[in-house]
Amino acid sequence: MADYDYDVLVIGAGPGGYVAAIRAAQLGLKTACAEGRATLGGTCLNVGCIPSKAMLHASEYFDAAANGSMAAMGIRVKPELDLDTMHGQRRDAVKGLTGGIEFLFRKNKVDWLKGYARFTSKDSVEVAGKSYRAKNIIIATGSSVTPLPGVEVDNDKGVIVDSTGALELAKVPGHMVVIGGGVIGLELGSVWRRLGAKVTCVEFLDQILPGMDGDVRKEANKIFKKQGIEFKLKTKVTKAEVKGKKAVLTLEPAAGGESETLEADVVLVSIGRRPNTDGLALDKAGLEVNQRGQIEIDHDFRTAIDGIWAIGDVVPGPMLAHKAEDEGIACAENIAGQTGIVNHDVIPSVVYTWPEIAGVGLTEEQAKEKGEVRVGKFPMLANSRAKTNHEPDGFVKVIADARTDRVLGVWCIASVAGTMIAQAAQAMEFGATSEDIAYTCHAHPTHSEAIKEAAMAVTGKPIHI
Ligand code: FAD
Ligand code: NAI
Repeated sequence: MADYDYDVLVIGAGPGGYVAAIRAAQLGLKTACAEGRATLGGTCLNVGCIPSKAMLHASEYFDAAANGSMAAMGIRVKPELDLDTMHGQRRDAVKGLTGGIEFLFRKNKVDWLKGYARFTSKDSVEVAGKSYRAKNIIIATGSSVTPLPGVEVDNDKGVIVDSTGALELAKVPGHMVVIGGGVIGLELGSVWRRLGAKVTCVEFLDQILPGMDGDVRKEANKIFKKQGIEFKLKTKVTKAEVKGKKAVLTLEPAAGGESETLEADVVLVSIGRRPNTDGLALDKAGLEVNQRGQIEIDHDFRTAIDGIWAIGDVVPGPMLAHKAEDEGIACAENIAGQTGIVNHDVIPSVVYTWPEIAGVGLTEEQAKEKGEVRVGKFPMLANSRAKTNHEPDGFVKVIADARTDRVLGVWCIASVAGTMIAQAAQAMEFGATSEDIAYTCHAHPTHSEAIKEAAMAVTGKPIHI
């Protein structure tokens, strides 16, 4: 250790980096974490998962009061929007959680190097003018918004915004156009639709939510349409001009053809995110990025350069906080000589709309490409708890290998799908068959019983349909 400042130096304090730093310190390694942002927690805690869920949660209450769902249960209220307070509780949530990471750093003796790090050699970085040498360096610099040519984001003006700007809008837009029918577009589009905006979603592909199971994508589209979101599928935005307080968008069919214009008070650009590597001076460490701008790693999170590791959004795989966290833990354990593993076949994903949309493992389309499958489906309408709670939309789908019955994928649309999917992930991690799930006793009345019944449906014997 003599000439190293640290055993482990992590670059970036998002869910990948801060978790890696804490685990490394817990394992007895002298650890530092460089972060340039004023608060710890990365995209997720500052401008991603947490603030978006704060707005989704609050707007869900507002919508339930405004759209008659509460009245249907005998609660008559006329909601009045206090947007400043809603934003205030969002900021409080972020402040509490980012402050919590600072406390955890102090508790675990992780040094926070305040500033942006850049490599000066394969085992040294410079942060705020100071040089640090470390035996192991973990790159966990995350991702940021993919820009759309011809559509310039300016969060300060608040007309053409990215997800960060869309979380901060000072008033409810009359008309919000969301470019991209992915996770961010649907979550933040839902927030402002619930609070009173007309929302139009322009999606390049023929269906929203790419990467998800085909049935789920179709059903989700139907549900969001019913809620009032308008979709322009197979359409691309080629230009956006800000005229006064409005934006005028030029749209074209994705395959080419006649263009049309669309006026909006706010435009949300949410066409994906790209890895953050600019400014790292990777060349000084001898590292390169792949065609997608990601840092390639092996199964153990080692990059091509000995002693440099990478995790989270900056490496290939889904850009999800829990994937980054698990990689952070496994990477730190590998550095400490343990066997840290992440099963990338079982990473759940959740869209926190109403209802929630969740999946783990293969889609039916992917599973069929690999071999013969059996599929069991169960509608939430037939689940006693969902029915009692006036939540008829959605279903659970269990996809199993036709020969071995091993579960290959589970997909849910349900009010609490994000919570339900955890049991599916755990079952898959343990190599469960659909029969294992079908014969597991599930508490009644719960939404999770729909997973049991969908598993029973794999072999054709559900009880309640
Ligand atoms: P990040 O969280 O991006 O953190 C990287 C950190 O590194 C940043 O703080 C950055 O400032 C810092 N950094 C970058 N370069 C340097 C440098 N050179 N030196 C020092 N520091 C540097 N995922 C979910 O799983 N669930 C959700 O509900 C969810 N909601 C989201 C909502 C929104 C609006 C957005 C935008 C994202 C959401 N995500 C969600 C995705 C999630 O935020 C990311 O997958 C996750 O934050 C990735 O973690 P990370 O540690 O790899 O990177
Ligand atoms: P996304 O990849 O989920 O969706 C982008 C959408 O934009 C796709 O449907 C794509 O076809 C479409 N698109 C691309 N170019 C387009 C164009 N020119 N015109 C119209 N449509 C176009 O990306 P998004 O929503 O920006 O989110 C980024 C990432 O952040 C997600 O992939 C996810 O990893 C993460 N995230 C996760 C959340 C969660 O877990 N609940 C919530 C929010 C973000």
